[in-house]
Amino acid sequence: MKKVLVAGGAGYIGSHICVELINEGYEPFVIDNLYNSSELAIRRVEEITGKKVPFYRADFLNADRISEIFELEHPDAVIMCAGYKAVGESVARPLEYYYNNLGSLLLVCDVMRRHGCSNIIFSSSATVYGDPAEIPITESCPKGEITNPYGQTKGMIEQILSDIHHADESFSVVLLRYFNPIGAHPSGLIGEDPNGIPNNLVPYIAQVAIGKREMIHVFGNDYPTPDGTGVRDYIHVVDLAKGHVCALRKLEKDPGLHIYNLGTGHGYSVLEVIAAYEKACGKQLKKVFDPRRPGDIACCYCDPSKAFKEMGWKAELGIEEMCRDSYRWQTRNPDGYGNSDHAPICLS
Ligand code: UFG
Repeated sequence: MKKVLVAGGAGYIGSHICVELINEGYEPFVIDNLYNSSELAIRRVEEITGKKVPFYRADFLNADRISEIFELEHPDAVIMCAGYKAVGESVARPLEYYYNNLGSLLLVCDVMRRHGCSNIIFSSSATVYGDPAEIPITESCPKGEITNPYGQTKGMIEQILSDIHHADESFSVVLLRYFNPIGAHPSGLIGEDPNGIPNNLVPYIAQVAIGKREMIHVFGNDYPTPDGTGVRDYIHVVDLAKGHVCALRKLEKDPGLHIYNLGTGHGYSVLEVIAAYEKACGKQLKKVFDPRRPGDIACCYCDPSKAFKEMGWKAELGIEEMCRDSYRWQTRNPDGYGNSDHAPICLS
């Protein structure tokens, strides 16, 4: 396997995956509709790696166009990270989320089948565990109740891919359940560029650290955790990206259906993350305690040992590197990639 389609490769995680693929001798190309991403990220990937990355601006709901690109590129594998991803927005616009996320995945699978491509790696999420039945979470932990349409699309797509594999065992699938990816490439050239007010903790802290926002809002300090704030398994996006390279190698050696947690196995509370960020940026950050955010759980961290046992992957970077690299990216790119002409989501 050499040629890899990174679907959504101009986005935060996809761009980091492209870098790691190139570092390991793969030839990624990108299809992205630039809905929540920037072509500049691809140019930056080229700057980091010194390699050209073919880029096609196209929508995964356009079958003819996606088919045409497959005809030109003939990928051996697809890494599917394209999709809408904002939890709150998905509650307000469920139809758009189901239509886009499920429709794109179904279309990609159909085009893959027609072009003889039978390997897919899917960006799933720890959200499929709901409020986890056990901590640390292993892959055999039962799936839980998912409280928003975004998370539902992750669970449904896992089911769809499993069903396709069971009907045709030559169709190989890796489901990667991401915990909380943060940080940026150490070059400071690529990173997360949220639209508007960041929904997630670390991008929000980063904007407070550079003075773009006044203070951090801590959602809840009455959880049953050591300091009362929510605990998550934060993982450096470069480690996460490397997990995809390991997943490809796994498929080369051992085709089939595989499921892995990608996390560090360590939980950090909101207050611990803020303290680590303060250390990274060398200043105190203003914070205020707000009520709990609806749908949030108290504590979520994984047992990542299956990924190590079966594909030799483990996270190597810690919370210091995560905060250091996030801060470097944010200070060098205070306005992200600088394209703020983000259109509201719609169906056609
Ligand atoms: N939090 C704050 N203030 C903020 C934002 C978040 O206190 O401004 C807290 C949350 O309450 C939570 C923690 O910080 O305790 C982490 O919140 P994030 O929004 O950064 O991440 P989540 O764990 O809520 O969600 C992430 C991804 C989802 C994914 C989920 C899987 O954003 O896409 O992990 O567990 F579904």
